[in-house]
Amino acid sequence: MNAIFTRTSIRKFEDKPVEKEKIDKLLQAAFVAPSAGNQQPWEFYVVTERETIEALAKTSPYAISAAKAPVVLVIAARKDVIFPGITDIDCAIATENIWLEMEELGLGGVMMAVSPVPERMEAVRQILSLPDNQYAFALLPFGYPVGKKPQVDRYDARKIHWIE
Ligand SMILES: Cc1cc2nc3c(=O)[nH]c(=O)nc-3n(C[C@H](O)[C@H](O)[C@H](O)COP(=O)(O)O)c2cc1C
Repeated sequence: MNAIFTRTSIRKFEDKPVEKEKIDKLLQAAFVAPSAGNQQPWEFYVVTERETIEALAKTSPYAISAAKAPVVLVIAARKDVIFPGITDIDCAIATENIWLEMEELGLGGVMMAVSPVPERMEAVRQILSLPDNQYAFALLPFGYPVGKKPQVDRYDARKIHWIE
């Protein structure tokens, strides 16, 4: 898959909305992600309302660049699942699926960690009025990229341990 070898974190966006069809394609990519016991613990909040985006961008010192994104996707997780200890892993895989599909669609974005940092989780929960059986996992601001740079090759043979 070529997107794996071109994807980078994008934090600057064109002042242009993202088409609903493209957002829907991103969500389709999320829903085909694997999950523990196929529990599919994810819930997706697609935020385009400026006021809410600006509030989300203040939930962490590392989320400031989300303020100017045309869309912020918030990935949340349900607590009422078979394997609650594994939901963050499931959500991370779904997030990566979305991130890679963005690359395919000419979009760009960046994952911003929310879980397991309690203050960030609480701030996002309040902004979105999440129900009690859900918690916020991550923010994924995205849009049309500005200044996309080539991917840096981080291949490191010292981290590969062949046991043969
Ligand atoms: C779990 C996770 C959490 C991250 N959290 C943030 C964040 O809060 N803010 C941010 O600007 N970037 C965040 N990033 C993006 C990383 O900084 C970025 O992936 C890393 O520097 C490598 O760059 P690349 O994505 O361009 O390859 C996060 C990435 C991951 C995978």
